Amino acid sequence: MDPSQVTIPPLKDLTIENITENTVLINSQCPDPRLRYVLERLVSHMHDFARETRLSTKEWMTGLQFLTEVGKTCTDVRQEFILLSDILGLSLLVDAIDHPKPAGSTEGTVLGPFHTHDPPTIAAGDSISQDPAGEPLLVICTVRDTSGQALEGVKIDIWETDSTGHYDVQYADRQGPDGRCVMTSDAQGNFWFKAIKPVPYPIPHDGPVGKLLRALRRHPYRPSHMHFMFEKEGFDHLITALYLRGDPYESSDAVFGVKSSLVVDLGTVGEGEGDRRIRERYGVRPGMAVLKHDFVLVTEMEARELRERNSVSALEMLGKKVRLVDGLPVPDVD
Ligand code: BEZ
Ligand code: FE
Repeated sequence: MDPSQVTIPPLKDLTIENITENTVLINSQCPDPRLRYVLERLVSHMHDFARETRLSTKEWMTGLQFLTEVGKTCTDVRQEFILLSDILGLSLLVDAIDHPKPAGSTEGTVLGPFHTHDPPTIAAGDSISQDPAGEPLLVICTVRDTSGQALEGVKIDIWETDSTGHYDVQYADRQGPDGRCVMTSDAQGNFWFKAIKPVPYPIPHDGPVGKLLRALRRHPYRPSHMHFMFEKEGFDHLITALYLRGDPYESSDAVFGVKSSLVVDLGTVGEGEGDRRIRERYGVRPGMAVLKHDFVLVTEMEARELRERNSVSALEMLGKKVRLVDGLPVPDVD
């Protein structure tokens, strides 16, 4: 940038009181209204944070060193920044803002770092787990839209840990995918498969995020859960999970992912006549654990309308008048 082209006052002798407005001023030359707005708010909140906490140089350096360690811990299969965002509650917050769910639809939750792009495509009834030590689980689900219409051809990604609480990608000698699959819903919106009963497990805590959790006296555990991701053209991408009721970490998830609507009770296939149909239809024996769940997807249009309405009213409540650019708010200055 040519300094002679800058038409703002000289940036000199800046103080605790006026550094913020001047930083915002120099950034205001940015032609992209959304980037300009996001940076204006980021700088304002960061400066207020430093002023409010009376941040010391030593603490500021500790923070920078911590972020450097977070970066150094990232590899092709480990994303420590996402983990940091997860334990600070930011991941869940961004998902809730960007993928709002109308009443009656399935709520979203954190994606986590263990989704992969190499799961096998399975047919209805196949097993996703090769772990002989896992407790067998029959999973029977439906997927519908908000009007109750069955959705055919929804691509569903499913992933879970083995019985020791590790995802396949956490093994250095991983032979291939295990505990994961992709399948498609049938004409009645049904999909079903065999898996193992999820177990609680700790998030990776041998790096800087684990160190922070220990300093905060927080445990690293996630309650037992199974992940689901739904994709169908015209529908808002849904990333969610089902959690087992009664898990010791049900209300203290290290990454804040549990929502009451996603907590499920497992059933058991009975021996009696009443369960004969389920035994025959799914080819399972009495005593097998069963998870049943009905998922509800929202259309892209429903999600967009709700997101835009929420944006405008949330900012109005903060006394800001906004307009939307590509569905995202920027100040309405005219
Ligand atoms: C998971 O559920 O796979 C997960 C989510 C957030 C952080 C770590 C793991
Ligand atoms: Fe998980």
